[in-house]
Amino acid sequence: MKRTPLIAGNWKMHLTEAQAVTLARKLLWGLTRLPAGGVEVLLCPPFTALSSLHKLLISDPIRLGGQNMHASTQGAFTGEISPLMLAEFCQYVILGHSERRALFQETDEDINLKARSAVQHGLVPILCVGETLAERQAGRAETIIYAQLMAGLQQVGIHRGSQLVIAYEPVWAIGTGQTATPEVVNQLIAATIRPALVRLFGEPVGQAIRVLYGGSVNAGNAVVFLSQPEIDGALVGGASLDSDAFLAIVSAAL
Ligand code: 13P
Repeated sequence: MKRTPLIAGNWKMHLTEAQAVTLARKLLWGLTRLPAGGVEVLLCPPFTALSSLHKLLISDPIRLGGQNMHASTQGAFTGEISPLMLAEFCQYVILGHSERRALFQETDEDINLKARSAVQHGLVPILCVGETLAERQAGRAETIIYAQLMAGLQQVGIHRGSQLVIAYEPVWAIGTGQTATPEVVNQLIAATIRPALVRLFGEPVGQAIRVLYGGSVNAGNAVVFLSQPEIDGALVGGASLDSDAFLAIVSAAL
């Protein structure tokens, strides 16, 4: 099945609003010099930059996403952001990133509530799954990932593959310069992630959902990951803060 590649930049807690606009301008300029179409580009800046980037990108195909979200639409949740607020600016929202699971104690149940809410409000969740080094060394990577998918996606009411994206990010590969082997990632998607999606959503929808790889993707290694048949794009952290590196990763998907 042909799935349009998605290259997503997760800027994490980096860049002021002014710096974010500068980076987005450089990316816009660079993208106009690449062949149009064939790849979808998504930026997930800090919340404070969403409004400005939305104005900047209004007539451009670059998509915007949040990095997290509360499941409720409004209420007394100091410091949180709601799906309605994100939906003003964004098409996507990253959910269940390993940093949120590890540093902010997010559980599969929390992530499931968020994913259901995101879909209800027309946002496409990018559900992150992945094993720790200890889990991989214990031979439990596949079991952990399958369980994260089943728990995170129960009763998520999608009808088209375009309403959901999965990002496989092995925790030990994030920000470490260490990457998983592209062939091993490809095999893991084919044997574990895709069957879980088909089981949850049926054959046509499950086959159409894009599965990204994330973890130390850079300009040098993007081509080998993106040439794997089961890897439909990349969720890029550190390298997405450098316009040349990010543009090279986008080019690798073309
Ligand atoms: P790095 O690309 O910096 O390893 O980060 C990956 C990531 O966490 C993207 O969500």
